[in-house]
Amino acid sequence: MPAHLRFRRKSFLGLIFLFTLSTSALYFLYSAPGIVNEYMFMVQARGIQIRENVRNIGAQVLEQVVRGAYSLNGTGEQLTDYAYDFNLSDSEVPPPTYLPDDFTFLPSQLCPERLPSMKGRMLVNMSEVSLEEVETSLLEAEPSTAPGGFWKPTDCLPRWKVAILVPFRNRFEHLPILLKHLVPVLQRQRLQFAFYVIEQRGMEPFNRAMLFNVGYKEAMKDEHWDCLIFHDVDHLVENDRNYYGCTHMPRHFAVKLDKYSYMLPYNEFFGGVSGLTVEQFRKINGFPNAFWGWGGEDDDLWNRVQLANLTVSRPPRELGRYMSIQHHHRGEVQFLGRFSLLRHSKERQRVDGLNNLNYSPLVSKRLLYTNISVSLSRNLAPVADY
Ligand SMILES: *[C@@H]1O[C@H](CO)[C@@H](O)[C@H](O)[C@H]1NC(C)=O
Ligand SMILES: *[C@@H]1O[C@H](CO)[C@@H](O)[C@H](O)[C@H]1NC(C)=O
Ligand SMILES: *[C@@H]1O[C@H](CO)[C@@H](O)[C@H](O)[C@H]1NC(C)=O
Ligand SMILES: *[C@@H]1O[C@H](CO)[C@@H](O)[C@H](O)[C@H]1NC(C)=O
Ligand SMILES: *[C@@H]1O[C@H](CO)[C@@H](O)[C@H](O)[C@H]1NC(C)=O
Repeated sequence: MPAHLRFRRKSFLGLIFLFTLSTSALYFLYSAPGIVNEYMFMVQARGIQIRENVRNIGAQVLEQVVRGAYSLNGTGEQLTDYAYDFNLSDSEVPPPTYLPDDFTFLPSQLCPERLPSMKGRMLVNMSEVSLEEVETSLLEAEPSTAPGGFWKPTDCLPRWKVAILVPFRNRFEHLPILLKHLVPVLQRQRLQFAFYVIEQRGMEPFNRAMLFNVGYKEAMKDEHWDCLIFHDVDHLVENDRNYYGCTHMPRHFAVKLDKYSYMLPYNEFFGGVSGLTVEQFRKINGFPNAFWGWGGEDDDLWNRVQLANLTVSRPPRELGRYMSIQHHHRGEVQFLGRFSLLRHSKERQRVDGLNNLNYSPLVSKRLLYTNISVSLSRNLAPVADY
């Protein structure tokens, strides 16, 4: 049965919801599956909040919209297998077992993944705080922290050496909030880690993906990192059992965002916080460099992962909750060309990424992070014909 018919029969409420949208939005929704992503961002950008009391209905409608649009291209059957995370009864799932408080660590053994120090839900404090204040308190708590924010556990062998890469521009007040929140979590998770803040200079639109590529190359000069975390500066994890190590598959950490009413916006969503092993990252030739302005680069990374025959793993349910610091893409433009690029993810993967990247960074070490300041422009990542 054609998707729109199925949709009609299933959800009359959904139709009412949809008719409140403009007809042009509807047209696009039904004409190109990729535009669903765009739709989600539109909803968000216009500040439409699904209120608590209609959350359930809204969730079902959105599910139908997403599935319906994808079905048009014959991929609907695959999607029906996917359990959308609209189940609100998370608390009924039995929690996995964590080690007891009196667990004894051995310096010669790998740190476990489910540590007694990981207690679950945390308070998220988004109050502004100065970097100096955060430096002082974190160094006081862990004096062994080396410039650049290098830290490793001493009572066991870290399971992963994690480089946390944070793309950055114009968000000076967010960085201390992130560090204050995340550093203690990583220490409780007994990971070896350091932070790299990659700041884009100049007037070009923000290029999050290219900043990650630069961050990766610079970080690898410091240390044999084996796990890379791609972390937006405004995302704060709500549960310290969301383990920031890598897995045998690329991982998407930020599954449920408060700004999307704690729903996964769409199955292919790979934004906010994600992680790949260095091996996986090399295999997919890194991020694309061609996405100028916000949006799309995370979808391209998703495509790259699929094309490399990898799949994305996600933390279960509650563990993937994040709060985001409000900012409304201040001064950053949206990348409108992303859909035409996304159609050629496959062809571009070989010619655009780690292998066509040139840049000249200014690198300096702060107490809690390495500052990689870089001016980006299109001619630094020329793309061969494909
Ligand atoms: C539908 O999917 C096929 C491959 O699965 C692709 O070649 C085609 O371009 C897609 N159609 C649209 C409208 O995106
Ligand atoms: C929703 O939660 C209930 C109770 O925990 C569970 O039985 C059910 O399988 C879940 N549904 C989905 C789609 O995850
Ligand atoms: C949140 O952080 C601010 C700034 O560091 C601090 O003054 C305040 O006490 C914190 N609030 C809580 C509830 O911890
Ligand atoms: C992925 O799997 C397909 C089918 O098994 C194979 O043809 C293709 O070469 C694989 N691609 C990579 C990058 O391994
Ligand atoms: C990084 O360093 C540059 C100068 O090299 C400086 O202008 C900028 O403020 C620094 N950014 C951060 C986040 O520390």
